[in-house]
Amino acid sequence: MKRVFSGVQPSGHLTLGNYLGAVRRWADVDQHRADALFCVVDLHALTVEHDPARLRRLSRQTATLLLACGLDPEVCTLFVQSHVGEHTRLSYVLECVATDGEMRRMVQYKEKAVRQQERGAGVRLSLLTYPVLMAADILAYSTEEVPVGEDQKQHVELARDIAERFNQRYGHTFVVPRATLPAVGARVMNLQEPTSKMGKSDLSGPGVVRILDEPEAVRRKVMRAVTDSGQDVVHDRVERPGAANLLDILAACTGEEPEKLAAGYPGYGPLKEDVAEAVVELLRPVRERHAELSADPAYVDGVLRAGAERARGMARPVVDAAYRAIGLLPQA
Ligand code: TYM
Repeated sequence: MKRVFSGVQPSGHLTLGNYLGAVRRWADVDQHRADALFCVVDLHALTVEHDPARLRRLSRQTATLLLACGLDPEVCTLFVQSHVGEHTRLSYVLECVATDGEMRRMVQYKEKAVRQQERGAGVRLSLLTYPVLMAADILAYSTEEVPVGEDQKQHVELARDIAERFNQRYGHTFVVPRATLPAVGARVMNLQEPTSKMGKSDLSGPGVVRILDEPEAVRRKVMRAVTDSGQDVVHDRVERPGAANLLDILAACTGEEPEKLAAGYPGYGPLKEDVAEAVVELLRPVRERHAELSADPAYVDGVLRAGAERARGMARPVVDAAYRAIGLLPQA
């Protein structure tokens, strides 16, 4: 069976982008066809300014929400990154294979560093080294496929480069992973700024649909989505990013082609109404299940405990092998 690994940061409330770009596929497809691990990557959420109490709350909420989205602990492994020490243990060794120049070329680093500077906060060193920790997350499990949205593709490619370089220098140790992207929904855009990605920590709240938003909030956000000049509905991501985003979301919800859907709408009003209803119905069962699960935190804790134990057992031999290969003396 293929080994699949992916993760999500508990840095905010999960969005429709997280769901369509990644989590829905983990639940509907990946966990059933592969030996799959999914991780709440809490260490990554420490790379920008954070509030400790909020991080703790969001870590639990994110794990609960992943279960509500359909991850089944009987068929996949769900755990919290900081519960498995192998990630940071491997990350340091990979820092000795990656280069400073590679880190500085990462688009997310450049974008987030500017945002931190604009807020007057220092840029944490961990923001620069973050892609190496992400490579460690992936490589520690001999991962073959990493199901992610488009914004993470560059990081997965870096993990490939690091794995290949390590193997070349120190002998075959790591499986070389590849990113897998959904056909539609790989980049859901902010409804208020359709040229920017819909992100968990976006300041533009009205443009971000959260998985746990009440139906009324979803409808309001979709109905107020920014559309383009011109009344006719066409699917053109460059010239008409607002309409294209709505069509992509509808296509991701219904399984139809965005271009074909465009032909069926005389104007933006009816399109928005259908998008709003499709998203409300898509998220309804997840919200309901989340309400049930959040009433039973002991169950979620149990899942995470068992998941971490299983994950540790898988990562340990791989990280030990990397330590030996790079020349560290094994403990007697
Ligand atoms: P994160 O937490 O930003 O996002 C989690 C997943 O959701 C996808 N995603 C989107 N897809 C489509 N449209 C959007 N607007 C959108 N926003 C987010 C992301 O591509 C991702 O798949 N660095 C990662 C977490 C991570 C990880 C890993 C992933 C850490 N270690 C190892 C895979 C493997 C991140 O910040 O994702």
